[in-house]
Amino acid sequence: MVNLEEAVVTGDMSAELDSLPDGHRGARAAADVDPVDDVRSALASVGAHVMPAAVVWQRLQADHARWARFAAHWEDLGPDKYAAESGTRRMRRYGRFVLARDGTRCLQPHAEFEQPTNTNRLFPVAGRDFDPLTDAFVADPVLDGLLPLLSEIAATLEEATQWSVHVHPFRVVGSTDSQGDATPEGRHQDGVTLVSSLLVARQNAVGGQSSVFDPDGQEVLTTTLSEPGTLLVGDDRRTWHSVSPIRPVHVDAPAYRDVLVVTLTAC
Ligand SMILES: [Fe+2]
Repeated sequence: MVNLEEAVVTGDMSAELDSLPDGHRGARAAADVDPVDDVRSALASVGAHVMPAAVVWQRLQADHARWARFAAHWEDLGPDKYAAESGTRRMRRYGRFVLARDGTRCLQPHAEFEQPTNTNRLFPVAGRDFDPLTDAFVADPVLDGLLPLLSEIAATLEEATQWSVHVHPFRVVGSTDSQGDATPEGRHQDGVTLVSSLLVARQNAVGGQSSVFDPDGQEVLTTTLSEPGTLLVGDDRRTWHSVSPIRPVHVDAPAYRDVLVVTLTAC
């Protein structure tokens, strides 16, 4: 099993953002290395990989200001009434793009989120209704850089002329009135080709460990995404994934875990 455990407890968000210059130094050192090469070999072997934040920031040409503007979109999410039914306060939006091989993208008209019903025991309904992505989020340069990177990674799994891309900004809240369960459905697949989870921010949170499993149920990778910009990718066709609940470090305040989940399916 690949153990990529990182620091679990992270304090306030500003402290996290202040820690990122170290990552940038690493990014400069890695500037000549194609990060997709590492992803390709990992996806071919264990079926999942963690791209370090420094590498992702370098690829997305992110800096503190750009990341802070991106993270601010997570202050403008809508409630997930479906997760609330199982006791977790989760905020989200949802949108879908068609992404061409050359990186050009086309935002699709807003619609319910439909997931193959055989991949999700908890939410067997055919469609779930979430708030659409905001115009500001759709125009954000971090998203603009991330989608071609994911397309490049997905192309290591499958030949496709274009991808159906589902985009889910999530905030999971851990508090006295929220179980903090990022994946209330438990271990699952998303019914796609590539599944990715980009850590945007954590605040006052302990827990939130990501695990990836092979078809026999063996854990092949575990990590706690703690540094903003860290990107977990997995071959959803042959792995399952789950995230453990978060709890507050300081119990008088809520815990937040902000992620961007993006999935790609050949179409
Ligand atoms: Fe999932």
